[in-house]
Amino acid sequence: MSGREMFDHGPERGKALMDVLEGRTPWRRPAWFMRQAGRYLPEYRETRAQAGSFLDLCYDPELSAEVTFQPLRRFDLDAAILFADILLVPQALGVELSFNAGEGPVLEPVRSMEDVLRLKLEGAAGRLSSIYETVARISEGLPAHVALIGFCGAPWTVATYMVEGGGSPERLRTRMAAARGEEWFDRLMDIVIDASIEYLARQVEAGADTVQVFDTWAGDLGDGLRERYVIEPFRRIVEGLRGRGVDVPVIGFARGLGAAQERFAKESGVQCVGCSWPLPVDYMADVLAPICPVQGNLDPAAVMAGDPYLREAVERLVRTLPRERHIFNLGHGFKPETPIENVERMVAYLREFDGADAA
Ligand code: CP3
Repeated sequence: MSGREMFDHGPERGKALMDVLEGRTPWRRPAWFMRQAGRYLPEYRETRAQAGSFLDLCYDPELSAEVTFQPLRRFDLDAAILFADILLVPQALGVELSFNAGEGPVLEPVRSMEDVLRLKLEGAAGRLSSIYETVARISEGLPAHVALIGFCGAPWTVATYMVEGGGSPERLRTRMAAARGEEWFDRLMDIVIDASIEYLARQVEAGADTVQVFDTWAGDLGDGLRERYVIEPFRRIVEGLRGRGVDVPVIGFARGLGAAQERFAKESGVQCVGCSWPLPVDYMADVLAPICPVQGNLDPAAVMAGDPYLREAVERLVRTLPRERHIFNLGHGFKPETPIENVERMVAYLREFDGADAA
């Protein structure tokens, strides 16, 4: 099934997500969810099995467009996010990558100048051409009121996976390389920044309305290092896009910055900041929303747990943040154990408290 007729959620009234990102008042509060496509959906598990592996799924434009559409058929949302992974960029740079069941990603480690010099920046974005084909397919199939979000990982987070060789509880090797100001590490950051700019620009050329940059491990860095390895790389990515004539809004999800979110909002160049749930909603409203629109920040555990906390948490967000400055989302991605009926409930509560007619 493809084409616009598959989303039967009613009349189309413009892209609420783009309205908020571009400073206009939306017809309703836009909502989408990090990891809205994924293992909590049985149809995702089925398509993934059909694809063979997670990476085969990412590189198959037809199947990855299909899993991008899946949550939109179930829930009345305002955005689709490209189905892919932040670790495709290291792979395009020549790093071996695999996803092993129950283990998460495994990468060939990059830990010296010699390793960095082996990376192939030239042609890297071109090696991700199937991803742009996926973007184009999604863009053609979406209803007019649903925005398409492209994405990449932020350089700091991508570098942590490259240096550690996968997920790591403390990321100490990478944090030490940053604290020492290792030359090879700065070169690695430069390469990831350049590849990311080109990758995002091509997603936009293929039809992405906006892009989100995921800095899952932004909270790793202390004063001095945070500016150099989080804020500055974001600024370089935004400037790089603008320099290439790409003017779409950029959403920065720099997880775990705490009180440094204010500086991030002011100095990173992004048009919207994503927040995770430990950040008080009052802080989002009082400190961040006057600077730029905010996105987030419902606790994924609240969606797993359900009521009464889920309903209270949705109400708090909607009552505290003005519709024209808020993109309703989680503070991090859905867990595979999330009950689908709780997601349905969450969206219903959002529409109830927000007061707009359902689409
Ligand atoms: O729906 C969406 O959000 C779009 C697709 C998307 C995925 N990963 C699909 C995915 C996006 C935007 C990402 C981003 C991503 N990938 C991040 C940043 C956001 C975050 O979650 O912090 C990171 C750190 C990664 C790296 C990554 N990918 C890890 C550590 C893992 C293994 C852990 C896990 O959840 O299994 C992945 C795999 C992955 N990426 C899955 C999905 C749906 C699960 C793969 C599967 O089907 O087994």
